[in-house]
Amino acid sequence: MSKKNLQDDQQNVLWIKPSIHPLKSGTINKFGSRPFTDIQSDVDGVPVHELIEKYGSPLFVISEKQQRGNSRRIQRAFSSRYPHVQFGWSYKTNYLNAVCNVFHQEGLWAEVVSEFEYKKARNLGVPGHKIIFNGPHKSREILNQAIDEGALLHIDHLDELLLIDDIANEKKKPVPVAIRLNFDTGYTENWGRFGFNIESGQAFDAAAHISNSKYMNLIGLHSHIGTFITDGRAYVSQIEIMCQFMDEVESKTNCSIDYIDIGGGLASMNSLQGAYLPPEQYIPTIEEYAALICDALLKEMKTRCANREKDLLLILETGRAMIDDAEVLITSVIANKQLPDGRRASIMDAGLNLLFTSFWYDHKIVPTRELTGVAEETVLYGPLCMNIDVVRKSIQLPPLKLGEPMVIKQVGAYNNTQWMQFIEYRPNVVMVHEDQTVSVVREAENLQSMNSLDRLPDHLSNPFSDAPTIVSALEEKPA
Ligand SMILES: Cc1ncc(COP(=O)(O)O)c(C=O)c1O
Repeated sequence: MSKKNLQDDQQNVLWIKPSIHPLKSGTINKFGSRPFTDIQSDVDGVPVHELIEKYGSPLFVISEKQQRGNSRRIQRAFSSRYPHVQFGWSYKTNYLNAVCNVFHQEGLWAEVVSEFEYKKARNLGVPGHKIIFNGPHKSREILNQAIDEGALLHIDHLDELLLIDDIANEKKKPVPVAIRLNFDTGYTENWGRFGFNIESGQAFDAAAHISNSKYMNLIGLHSHIGTFITDGRAYVSQIEIMCQFMDEVESKTNCSIDYIDIGGGLASMNSLQGAYLPPEQYIPTIEEYAALICDALLKEMKTRCANREKDLLLILETGRAMIDDAEVLITSVIANKQLPDGRRASIMDAGLNLLFTSFWYDHKIVPTRELTGVAEETVLYGPLCMNIDVVRKSIQLPPLKLGEPMVIKQVGAYNNTQWMQFIEYRPNVVMVHEDQTVSVVREAENLQSMNSLDRLPDHLSNPFSDAPTIVSALEEKPA
């Protein structure tokens, strides 16, 4: 281009007054998505900053509305497709009393796996006959109580079977029981350590043993084929195998099965680490799971089980899909640093001690307001003086100021039960009720509560009583 043409061209360009704009963190990244389309400034209308002011940070916040909404939607999805359905609330998923009782009010029974959980359910007022008692460890004492109270006993192994037989003989009264089964669905890894194996004949032997016993009655079959099952066909296979087994047991023994319990395992909408697709794209909806499961059972009822006198009750023990998205963890930035490799890092006041699930989920972590600044790869650490305390290995975030609150989403399953009292106190847990009032449903720990179970022998009570003061100790130093 000649010098003259260039000048002409420049004269035609519209001149715009330069101005300074803050860089928004929402620029499109290489995957074509904006890192910050999502902000959460409140929980069911209660502002996050108010929650922090009143209850501190970190803070677990449960939405009662979401919890009830989930349980209604999930129960409806199944009961509208199959006439006899009962859900049991899997205590180990989240056994905060308030959480359990919301589910019990919504009609869920209790599903427990230990003496502690059994007693917790009874203490909350759950009648024995609405408690499903799973798990490999049940002492004679608790079995005695559970039998007296009419709990649904799910036998895990032969030693337990013999123990219950013994108790039943002692009591000289009928004891209804179920057995836990394990088998290969073709879609899931077989959790062979729980229950009796079908393929080896062990499960049939257990059923035959019960059938021959004087007081035990086999009335139920249980299996839990895994957790976060993303392929609904696994459940279809599970139901076919369990019904085939039921058929065999009923035809060859005098047992008559009232219910099958297909355990839990429905996936929540959390992001599994290493998954390429967002959860919405590969996790079935509750309605899709329900359609597959109920259709498979109805088909079995019409074909294989056509001559049965009673309708089979379907029990589910759905855990994570019921509660995961009903709870968030609010956390705040306590420090920022640059790592030796140049990456940005923020230290948060909540870590692995509170968020066990960050081992396998990339939890969605969102700010409470629109943030400015250039988004960069950032590591989010927790507050523990432990190298493994990483909440997110890599997340695109703009610079975070000290005290900036962030909301970690979908933390309702397994965190309030598997959290650790390690290095830090566990914080308050609050529930936002449907009328937007807030209750503390578990108080934060403090030194007194932490020390309440420790016992200090007398001779260890005051180790520094004879010790010199710092000043005199320094003075005593040899020259
Ligand atoms: C026997 C039993 N039932 C139900 C559950 C709940 O499973 P999920 O949270 O995957 O629904 C579990 C969890 O491992 C379990 O072991």
